[in-house]
Amino acid sequence: MYYDDDTIEQVRSSNDIVDVVSTYVQLKRRGANYVGLCPFHNEKTGSFSVNRNMQIFKCFGCGVSGNVFGFIERTENISFPEAVQFLADRAGIKLPEKSNDGYDNSRRNLKERIAAINKEAATYYYRMLRSGEGRNAMQYLKNRGLSDETINSFGLGFAGRYSDGLYKVLKTKGYTDEELATSGLFTINEKGAYDKFWDRVIFPIMDQRGRVIAFGGRIMSKAENAPKYLNSPETELFNKSENLYGLHLAKKTKEKFFLLAEGYMDVIALHQAGFDNAVASLGTSLTERQAKKIMGYTDSVIITYDSDGAGKKAALRAIPILKNVGLSVKVLNMKPYKDPDELICAAGADEYRKRIEESVNGFDFEAGILEETHDMEDPDSKTQFDHKLAETIAAIDDPMARHNHIESAAKKYNIDPVELKREVNRIGAALKVKENNEREKERAKATREIKPEAAQKKAEYSLLNMLVCNKNAYLAVKDILKKEDFAGETERRIFEYLTNDYERVGATVGARIVEKFESADEQKTVADILMTSDDFEETSEDERRMAFADYVTGVKKSAYDREVEEAMRIGDGAKLNELLMNEDSLEALRKKLMNITL
Ligand code: CTP
Ligand code: MN
Repeated sequence: MYYDDDTIEQVRSSNDIVDVVSTYVQLKRRGANYVGLCPFHNEKTGSFSVNRNMQIFKCFGCGVSGNVFGFIERTENISFPEAVQFLADRAGIKLPEKSNDGYDNSRRNLKERIAAINKEAATYYYRMLRSGEGRNAMQYLKNRGLSDETINSFGLGFAGRYSDGLYKVLKTKGYTDEELATSGLFTINEKGAYDKFWDRVIFPIMDQRGRVIAFGGRIMSKAENAPKYLNSPETELFNKSENLYGLHLAKKTKEKFFLLAEGYMDVIALHQAGFDNAVASLGTSLTERQAKKIMGYTDSVIITYDSDGAGKKAALRAIPILKNVGLSVKVLNMKPYKDPDELICAAGADEYRKRIEESVNGFDFEAGILEETHDMEDPDSKTQFDHKLAETIAAIDDPMARHNHIESAAKKYNIDPVELKREVNRIGAALKVKENNEREKERAKATREIKPEAAQKKAEYSLLNMLVCNKNAYLAVKDILKKEDFAGETERRIFEYLTNDYERVGATVGARIVEKFESADEQKTVADILMTSDDFEETSEDERRMAFADYVTGVKKSAYDREVEEAMRIGDGAKLNELLMNEDSLEALRKKLMNITL
């Protein structure tokens, strides 16, 4: 680990988790928690909870959880030490020089190691392109109209002609096969080790901070049975569904909107032509997370996908996704050219600029496609068109905009406005019902997931929760409970940590306890436990005391049962006798606990 515990704790306690999360997620207060839409999976209802007392978050939908460092690691796609640095900067804390002594190879640094391998690889590809071996590749890029400046600014490269060039270089730098395998850039098996990319032009994929996280490689000949593009697989560092090609450059644009293209070459050609606001979703269909990411930089998007059938389909799919996160959407007409790269090569930047001016809003684009695919002279086909158009209008969230579209569409397409309105409302109502059902399902799933299977587990979880939140609770039971009273290893460790904290510094924090657990699985259990709180703000002092007494005696009882069982199993009669003598003491304990102040 780079930083000592005290430094990490100082950084953590200077970054309130609710404040930090609020800059990424819109949170609403609900009981003891703050709730919003999970930034880590797609959802319509808020399952994402942040607890200020505990300083941890948990999504009851997808199960992700952790403290403020874990949150930043995920949202910024950085490693733990980088998250410490990030949050130190945010709080204006100067960190001590980091030392590499005792550099540990834990999961925490996996992202950093993959990033280091990607960086080495990018350098290798970059050099290759500019070497004798890369002459053809360089020629290929020049033939496609790219300038030296563009080739450099996108860090383009060439994967050498041999299938293990990069592998050999990285081996001499001391990387192990295991490390190399995690980067996704190699195939390593019994037969040997091979580079994933060779004899291809290389497009490094950067994250929004400009760090190389993956690669795409294009074949230079007319592809026969090899795929035109190969891409890095998803890794700990590279999540396809949230990344956008070109974002690290586009985020600096002065334009008020983004251009959303399909491919590497489109983004590159657009930037070279002066459109520095272009990004691409890289051939996969646009996701809600990508849309949210765009929303972080601008509030409007012009879709500039390919003009073929696939491109149109992709645009139709992308429009609602973009609109749903609050972006205003237009679509650019590429015809008769295939894509932005071709248009610019053939007709120039001015023509493209004109197309931007002429781009139509998302709704008109959808209506235009419906018009193309229906025979407006045939009554049946026209009726079908009317219904589909009503569906499109019903999907508009803003009631005012919906009203305006009903009015103008009725005129434009000669539909009875009253009928159109009725149909839109009917579809809208059906959509609401469907959404409500889905919401109910999500909620039911969430409650199922938080309900521990056994009452014993619930008692242990709730008790640990109260002990972390409330020092008086701890003081009341410090001489009564021992860690072996808890059934699970994780629960025992939590108890041990909170005891140590109270005894050493007189206080404890949920978020710090999460920090002690290395594996994602354990961290999840810890967050589950720490988020298992009855809503005590709503309950009376008496109820709280009663619950506490129940939890303590419940945990003690289970521990007692385990001991009895064990004594019987090994036939330890003396122990058994001793235990049975103490059976009544649980009731006494409960009575005693009912008198404490919490
Ligand atoms: N793509 C891919 N794998 C393929 C084909 C395409 O990953 N076999 C992705 C690439 O990110 C590509 C994007 O989909 O940039 C768009 O595909 P396409 O329009 O076919 O490629 P272009 O970007 O136009 O590439 P080029 O101009 O080099 O042919
Ligand atoms: Mn193209």
